[in-house]
Amino acid sequence: MKNIQSELPIFYETAHAELASALEMLAACKETDAPKQALGYFMHAKDEYMHAKCFFKMLSQRGMKVSLEKARKFRFTPPSLIIKGYISNKGFLVDTMKLKNFIAFVYTNELLAKSSFENILNLVGSDTDEGKIISSIMMDELRHHGMAKKYFLNHYPALQPWQLLMYRLRETLQNKGRKFYDANLKFLDRILTPLYKGMAFLAGSMARKLNLNEFQRLGKNLMEISPNSIL
Ligand SMILES: [Fe+2]
Ligand SMILES: [Fe+2]
Repeated sequence: MKNIQSELPIFYETAHAELASALEMLAACKETDAPKQALGYFMHAKDEYMHAKCFFKMLSQRGMKVSLEKARKFRFTPPSLIIKGYISNKGFLVDTMKLKNFIAFVYTNELLAKSSFENILNLVGSDTDEGKIISSIMMDELRHHGMAKKYFLNHYPALQPWQLLMYRLRETLQNKGRKFYDANLKFLDRILTPLYKGMAFLAGSMARKLNLNEFQRLGKNLMEISPNSIL
């Protein structure tokens, strides 16, 4: 059971990341005028949707084994893609980045995704059914990485390998930043929830002491009511 508790956030976050990738690819597909490129983005989006679906399934299988209260914390809602920073509230990457940076982003992110799946694979075991699914997802990510690399080198042959390394470093730092932000949010939630509950309790106790008859206006001459009255 302890394993499941620690696995829930991993599958939850990964499913978010995959779904966000699918939406980013779909946005890129919509944006491009080149039919061949559009098909490439579309097929990529389709893969990412499949990955997200697999991780959501693995998440729900674990969710069924824990208490309702715990499972509820890992229920997916679309706005969390933005709240968690998987999709920027400023728009899709293809709209906010130069094409060169966007392709470099895909190139580095696919490789980072593959290496983070290696950890998940160790978690579930490579010879389990889930392990086989994750291995095939890793193959997809490598294929995506290869496609982006090919496109990149064709269009920007002057780019040096160290520049791609810089892109990768930047992405790794951003991923770490996202995890830090999430941890902070959870910390604040732990601090603020008792405060909210305390305030709600206080407001409830005060409301109970109010004499609601005062609010009865029927038969009252409103002109005679004191200006200080809460009526
Ligand atoms: Fe993926
Ligand atoms: Fe991918």
